[in-house]
Amino acid sequence: MNALRVGELVEPDEVVIGPMRRRHLPSVLRIEKQVYPRPWTMGLYLGELALPASRLYVVARRGSRVCGYGGFMLTLDECHITTVAVDPQLQGGKLGTRIMLVLASRAVARGATAMTLEVRMSNKPAQELYRKFGFAPAGVRKGYYAEVNEDALVMWAHDVDAPAYGQRLAAIEASLPDRTKIEKV
Ligand SMILES: CC(C)(COP(=O)(O)OP(=O)(O)OC[C@H]1O[C@@H](n2cnc3c(N)ncnc32)[C@H](O)[C@@H]1OP(=O)(O)O)[C@@H](O)C(=O)NCCC(=O)NCCS
Repeated sequence: MNALRVGELVEPDEVVIGPMRRRHLPSVLRIEKQVYPRPWTMGLYLGELALPASRLYVVARRGSRVCGYGGFMLTLDECHITTVAVDPQLQGGKLGTRIMLVLASRAVARGATAMTLEVRMSNKPAQELYRKFGFAPAGVRKGYYAEVNEDALVMWAHDVDAPAYGQRLAAIEASLPDRTKIEKV
């Protein structure tokens, strides 16, 4: 019989969000290839993980399975959400919301006053998710996704350091059916 590993002590349904590590990258890239027309490479992720002062990347896990991930780049007080993705088999189960909650709250804790991102014009599910987090359309980048010949919608959320935004995050968290375990990120 195999010895129990730490990850197996976690209830299998419990979602744990923690820092993205090198060992998570094969699973991250497997999801990446399924959900993005221009998937990031191992080298690109390794480059991002090597810049912890200005970047944060997290993974959501159930047991040892990586179910989704997300990240941001912080430039002074502006947070740029660079990616949010959930395993296609698990989409619609609030994992994206849980990941965004961690990213938004960590961005504010690290001094962000505004957040921005680009999203494909046709990607309505992601736009809906971002709207819930206070992002509003602010412009279009023509041909940003050249490989699928699609424009990007640029979205911004302002004043994320104000109490009202904290209340928004608290309300989203309270709407979830159960708590997410957050490791130190
Ligand atoms: C976008 C994505 C991260 C959302 O993650 P998810 O776990 O499926 O989302 P959630 O279950 O947390 O849903 C959050 C909200 O998104 C919206 N949403 C999710 N799926 C939707 C769908 N099929 N249609 C419309 N809205 C949808 C809803 O507003 C939903 O809130 P609600 O459940 O209160 O109605 C996920 O669909 C994904 O990985 N997509 C592919 C990668 C991608 O496009 N990433 C964004 C790049 S900018």
